[in-house]
Amino acid sequence: MLRPTTPADTAALLALTAGTGVFKPHEVDTLQEVLDDFHREGAEYGHVCLTLEDGGAAVGFVYFTPVAMTDRTWELWWIVVGKDRQGRGTGRWLLDRIEQHILQLGGRLLLIETSSTPHYDPTRRFYLNNGYTLAAQLADFYCDGDDKCIFRKRLTSTPA
Ligand SMILES: CC(C)(COP(=O)(O)OP(=O)(O)OC[C@H]1O[C@@H](n2cnc3c(N)ncnc32)[C@H](O)[C@@H]1OP(=O)(O)O)[C@@H](O)C(=O)NCCC(=O)NCCS
Repeated sequence: MLRPTTPADTAALLALTAGTGVFKPHEVDTLQEVLDDFHREGAEYGHVCLTLEDGGAAVGFVYFTPVAMTDRTWELWWIVVGKDRQGRGTGRWLLDRIEQHILQLGGRLLLIETSSTPHYDPTRRFYLNNGYTLAAQLADFYCDGDDKCIFRKRLTSTPA
């Protein structure tokens, strides 16, 4: 079941995210701040955070937002599937749900940022496999040797 995230989910979502082994500790700390801000005022800015629950446990989540000062452009900040559930189509299903949700809100473009390091090879492949194209790569953005990769997809209600 994909449902709105509540403050009671925070601990489980932090544990799930840390458990993927993909994120650095300071990135997990940032997630805590993002979730705290979301529960304080995120809805005011149109942010959306959804938790995927299975058997009463959080097994994934997504966080996406409209981009200020744009015409219906959205950005995916987080998509996480629990480590023991990865590679079974859950991420693809979540991306589809996100796209449908944004389309229903009138969105037209979805951007996703990620790192260029080998550590994120599977993540970048995941976006490419799901119809996203690499629109820009900002050299040394995160640190020397670690570029920011910006993926984009035009959202349409009919499958491409
Ligand atoms: C990226 C992620 C959301 C994809 O979800 P998923 O449920 O594993 O993806 P799916 O099963 O729908 O698709 C599998 C595809 O995703 C990619 N992939 C990314 N991470 C993977 C993983 N850990 N295991 C297997 N496939 C993975 C592969 O390209 C795979 O395609 P392939 O079978 O052709 O190799 C998930 O693996 C994850 O949470 N990773 C860690 C967190 C992360 O990188 N988040 C994105 C940055 S915010």
